[in-house]
This record gives sequence, C-alpha cells and structure tokens, in this order.
Amino acid sequence: MSVLDGFTDASIRSCAQARAAGELGAFPTETVYGLGADASNDAAVAKIFAAKGRPSNHPLIVHVDDSRQGADGVAHFASAVPAFAQRLMQVFWPGPLTLILPRRADVGAVAAAGQTSIGLRCPAHPVAQALLRQCRALGVAGLAAPSANQFGRISPTSAAHVVGEFGDGLLVLDGGSCAVGIESTIVDCTRGVPVLLRPGGIGAAQLQAAIGQRIWSDDEAVQSLPGAAAPRASGTLEAHYAPRAKLRLMDARGLQTALDLLGKVPQHSDPVIATYARVVLRSASQAVWQRRMPQDAVATAQQLFAVLREFDARGVKLIWVETPPATPDWDGVRDRLQRAAAA
Ligand code: TXA
Ligand code: MG
Repeated sequence: MSVLDGFTDASIRSCAQARAAGELGAFPTETVYGLGADASNDAAVAKIFAAKGRPSNHPLIVHVDDSRQGADGVAHFASAVPAFAQRLMQVFWPGPLTLILPRRADVGAVAAAGQTSIGLRCPAHPVAQALLRQCRALGVAGLAAPSANQFGRISPTSAAHVVGEFGDGLLVLDGGSCAVGIESTIVDCTRGVPVLLRPGGIGAAQLQAAIGQRIWSDDEAVQSLPGAAAPRASGTLEAHYAPRAKLRLMDARGLQTALDLLGKVPQHSDPVIATYARVVLRSASQAVWQRRMPQDAVATAQQLFAVLREFDARGVKLIWVETPPATPDWDGVRDRLQRAAAA
C-alpha cells in the first residue's frame, strides 16, 4: 500500500518518522500535494530533485508548522523578516501564501538551491499541519516540498494524481482533494518592497489591502530597483504545468468558429479535441469532447488540474480553452493556462 489515510494518528506518526529518517513522502496541502523531505537534511532534499527530474538550481518551498502562526519555523530558516512580511504572515498564515525571505546561512542550502533566500510557507491543510507538528516533535523544523509531480508537469490535487506521477514506490498521505487547486501565491520579501512572483489563490488586491502597500510585479521590480535581479523560480518558467495534449487559449467566438470549421468528423469514435469553456458551444462532431468551465475563478482553480489530467487520460490531442476573463480574480488560473499553452 502506498497511500495512507492522512486523518489517522498512526499514518502521521509513521510519515513523520520516515521524514526524520531522511526518506521522501508526499502530503496534501490546500493548494496542491507536495513531495516532502527534511529541509535541514541536504541528502534527503537532494532525493527530491532526483525523483522529480528537477534541475538542482530551482529552489524548493519549505513548509513550517503553525506554532506562533509560523513564526517559530520562520525563525529557524530566515535571518530577517521585514515588517510587511510579518503582516502577511499574520493575515494569511496558515494558508496558500509563500514568502521568500533572507536565509540563515547554516540551514536549507540544498532546498534553497544555494540561494541566499528561502521560500517559506505555513499551509492550512489539517493533514499537513498534523504532519509538520509531528515532524517538529522529532526535530524536523520544516519540510522542503515542491509540488509532487514530474518536473514541468501538472501539479497533483489528489493522492491518486501523485501515484500517477511516481507509482507505488512513494508513500502518499491522503488528505482528499485540494480545496484551492493551484499553487500558492509567492511574494518575494527580499528586495525592500513586496514583489509578486507567482499569482495564486490569494490575489494582489488582498495582499495590498492587508499591508496597505503596493505589491510590485517582478518586471517592475527588475526595471526600477537597482541591482535587484529576480530570484530563480521554476514555477515562473514560461512553459510549465503542461498536459500531454497541446493546449490553446481562444476567446469564445474563436472557439466556436474553430468548431464550426471542423464540421462533422464522424470517422472518429474517440474524441481528439477537448473544449473547456464558460460559454455553451455547439458542435456536432464526435471528435469533440466538451467540458464546461465554472463561471467563477475559485471553482475553476479547484478543478483545473484534475480536468487537464482527465483530458490527458482520455487521450485527446488538442485542448481548446476559453481565455479566462481579464479580471484580477482570474490571475492565478490565467497564469497557469498561459504557461500550459506555452509548453
Ligand atoms: O502551493 C505550493 O506552493 C506547492 C505546495 C506543495 O506548497 N508547492 C509548489 O512548489 O508549488 P514548486 O516547487 O512546484 O514551486 C515552488 C516555487 C518555484 O517557482 C520556486 O522557484 C519558487 O517557489 N521558490 C522557492 N524558493 C525560492 C526562492 N528562494 N527564491 C525564489 N523563488 C523560490
Ligand atoms: Mg511545481
């Protein structure tokens, strides 16, 4: 058995013991599932890069438990916490927010891919928290964990997805389907001003409201802050989160026109094209398999990666997606779809 019920003490205990012994294992968070190792054990963290096929210069996020709302974990890994970062922790932790902070030189070098900063997150998922607390009791101050998928592929939002990525050899704590469904919002707190590196469930407007200060985009920061090169972030590579099928974004009219041009293609008994759109589309072709996108961004984020995986499982060759609205609430979903389309 490679999947353990995350809601039992026995599972939590055995997984925490495995982490303390330097072994890898997957666990749920409210964003996506993570592939975890003791962040302070460089040899254990190196196994994550090997398992994922991830280049060793792409830093990992370190997950900490919620003791003093994450502050104890932060004190272990970070050498300084600017006032706006303190405020973000108070408002959004535990939750789907990662903060990049200056790293203590003596911890987490491999997890941080050698950078002088470290990404820290205090997740809200009860199974993640139970695991992190038990780990701390065993002397493990934090779990380095990227999304539990092969490098460049879609993040997993269920235990079954993780098994699909890594097979039966990996122990997976099952905590159900992820409520947020896309990866955490990342704010870089090392450049004097808060810089948004990756949009996620928490939007820029919410972040700004919490700190009463503007959030910079990475481009703005690179242009206006002298010597402030962006830290490396693999989730910010243009081509990422990719299904096997080719994904294209189109507006509703373009999508309908493409379907009309296709006409009836009766020779295909299996769908070769999947559509994912908020509008109702007309198609008489058996080659097309349609799926409705929810009207709101939160519901779409929650199902997005599972829907893309389902399309892949059905063997479609093309995925035509209606471009999400240009409003801020859709930033996270739009970002993931644009990266999937760029692959
Ligand atoms: O929701 C999430 O963030 C999930 C769950 C498991 O916590 N994790 C996740 O990890 O998405 P991963 O490795 O797939 O993406 C982590 C992102 C990458 O873009 C990485 O480059 C960036 O965080 N990151 C981590 N540490 C960093 C650092 N010191 N400086 C800049 N970017 C960093
Ligand atoms: Mg990832």
